[in-house]
Amino acid sequence: MDILIRENYEQMSKSAAEIIASCVRSKPNCVLGLATGGTPIGTYQELIRMHREDGLDFSQVKTFNLDEYLGCGIELDKPYNMDQSYARFMYEELFRHINIKKENIHIPDGKTKDPREFCKRYEEEIKKAGGVDLQLLGLGADGHWGFNEPGSSLGSRTSLVALTAQTLDDNYEAFYKNANIERSQMPHFAITMGIGTILDARSILMIVNGSKKADTVAKCLEGPVTSQITSSAIQLHSGDITVVLDEPAASKLLHADHYRHVEKMKLQYGL
Ligand code: F6R
Repeated sequence: MDILIRENYEQMSKSAAEIIASCVRSKPNCVLGLATGGTPIGTYQELIRMHREDGLDFSQVKTFNLDEYLGCGIELDKPYNMDQSYARFMYEELFRHINIKKENIHIPDGKTKDPREFCKRYEEEIKKAGGVDLQLLGLGADGHWGFNEPGSSLGSRTSLVALTAQTLDDNYEAFYKNANIERSQMPHFAITMGIGTILDARSILMIVNGSKKADTVAKCLEGPVTSQITSSAIQLHSGDITVVLDEPAASKLLHADHYRHVEKMKLQYGL
């Protein structure tokens, strides 16, 4: 596991975007797993810049998003209203600014009439695409990945889940308050890739910023593997793992100096 500590959010975002861009350059038809939330916005902005200024080409890239609120969704590139779906977020923050093909974008369908059947199909679609090459992840305040809240099985697959009060609070601030939607009107369920689904990705890129998540970062990376911090399953992943943190998010790590040392040594030895 490579743990990279960057001075601030901007540097974290640049490093993360560079890792994604190098995946796209080395495998133009790669499959990316994507996340929403406040954390990846800077990474997406940097990818958009790379697309515009350096010609980073997404024309063959396929994407699978982690999650979606039940009852929410838009048809990409058709007119939409104040829907607070993750589909809308992705369209506005990334997809409409790059040359990705609409048919290559996959986001759980929050408006499905049969969520359980949909979840099965989503897993099959990921397999059919050849599996995820690089999965981008944020970290929830309670340690979740996707919407895999404390207590979710570490082997879980894409499924319909209930959200915790904390996640509703966190996401109310981020998504709903600005849209003048009452907290009581927020969806309480979501479709999410499972922890098992996420661990199937060939490589994982987790990004975290801010001192508010410092305790959770330490539990996730240096604590025991537990379903109470579902992202601690990162310690079980068998492929490439890169974690990019800003200084405040890394501030509670016991071995931060070691991680800095390892990064320096790897650069020095060209590894
Ligand atoms: C979003 C997702 C969530 C977020 C997490 C952190 O698709 O899967 O797990 O990554 O809740 O959200 P932010 O970045 O808003 O702090």
